[in-house]
Amino acid sequence: MVEQAVLFEVEAGHWAPKGAEYRGAEALRLERKYTPRMREDLRMGHLVSYVGNKGVPLLRLYRYKEAFAFRFVDEWLDRFGVNQDDTVFDPFCGMGTTLLAASCRGVPAIGTDRLPVAVFIARTLPLFFQVRPGELTGIFEHLRRIVPSAEPAPVAADVAIMGVAFPAETLTTLRRWKAAIDGLESPFRDIFLLLFLSVLEPCSYTSKDGQFLRLKRDKRLANPEEALAGKVREAETDIHWIRELGWDDAFLPFRVVLGDTRRLDDVPFERPPTVIITSPPYANRYDYTRTYSLELCFHFVRNFAELRELRHSLLRSHIEARLAPAEEAPHPAVQELVDFLRSRGKVLNNPRIPDMLTAYFVDMQKAIREWGRVLAPSARVAMVVDNVRFEGQMLPVDLILSEMAEEEGFTVEEIVVARYKGNSSQQMGRYGRVPVRESIVVWRK
Ligand SMILES: C[S@@+](CC[C@H](N)C(=O)[O-])C[C@H]1O[C@@H](n2cnc3c(N)ncnc32)[C@H](O)[C@@H]1O
Repeated sequence: MVEQAVLFEVEAGHWAPKGAEYRGAEALRLERKYTPRMREDLRMGHLVSYVGNKGVPLLRLYRYKEAFAFRFVDEWLDRFGVNQDDTVFDPFCGMGTTLLAASCRGVPAIGTDRLPVAVFIARTLPLFFQVRPGELTGIFEHLRRIVPSAEPAPVAADVAIMGVAFPAETLTTLRRWKAAIDGLESPFRDIFLLLFLSVLEPCSYTSKDGQFLRLKRDKRLANPEEALAGKVREAETDIHWIRELGWDDAFLPFRVVLGDTRRLDDVPFERPPTVIITSPPYANRYDYTRTYSLELCFHFVRNFAELRELRHSLLRSHIEARLAPAEEAPHPAVQELVDFLRSRGKVLNNPRIPDMLTAYFVDMQKAIREWGRVLAPSARVAMVVDNVRFEGQMLPVDLILSEMAEEEGFTVEEIVVARYKGNSSQQMGRYGRVPVRESIVVWRK
């Protein structure tokens, strides 16, 4: 039931922004219920974004902009007192930040992700530990010589963005580099493919921008060979750096499974994990198969049909999410917002948002249930989540997921507000700049 608009100000503390408008009685109930367990730690704010990884060897080589910072993971490993007897699991492991941080302390770690490019990056990071200083430079010189005569590698050319993302000559050059890299032996093939994927954006008219891959026709484009040469230099620096940091002494290879965290049956856990440090896709229309479409089209999908199939196999955080007829919002606060949005009909700037929200929480419920099943007793979870706002209505995703976790047998220990973020420019224009919080939910099984 949607109630009259209420202005809700929290008596003590600043975690619910003054002036934030909550229409839902359920959202209000949740805010009241969890107030005693909420606290602000705005120092965490810059650690929940990938920006901190610009100064971290290996992680800086590929810009996975949905990643959180290595130091964020380090801090939670410390807070949870993790040691070599633990097993760390990241069910949405992305480029492997959690896995790398645990492994550098000699702690066993395993991750799953449904996006092949993320799994590829995560699996390739440990390969850098096998490389000797100078080796990559030597191989790069060899590649440079053979690229001009290489037969261009196939790409998923029927995906529309591939027709407009690059000048024709650049696309052919990139395809020649790709073919030359494909001819290398392990581990260099994967290492060079990672470096190659990391230069696609600077060599293209695209920009990974907010939730979208935008076309920027006036962008100054990098030259593929120069961009790759720069990446090889960075990687050489990192190979020295990981030795200086002593990472190579403690490093324990981690495992990464291309899989769906809504169904963990096939994941070969050696022991039940004792810790999860993770961050799911956010319920904000985010479509990873669009943001990473260039990378996917160069190596991981053969055509548009495969790209679309992949899109529909991810957690349903995006606007093309399809809802099965019997599926309903698994939490009353979600239902309340969905009802409100549906009642807005045509006013809504995207009429698919109610289905997306419903599907998102159905999927997250499945995921949390699976974690409850596979985790060791007393296991801890730290998960970064972003709240969202549609048509001026805040949805407390952090609190909804926490209450859903309680229903699956977890205890909610605390909800740490890491930062307040602005909302989309469309929303800001209509409703003013009321920030939404990004939190770390901390649960115990
Ligand atoms: C916020 S990102 C996590 C980034 C990660 N913390 C890092 O540092 O790289 C969320 C991840 O969830 C993945 N994902 C989406 N649907 C999934 C699913 N059904 N199962 C597992 N992972 C999924 C996305 O591919 C994305 O990498």
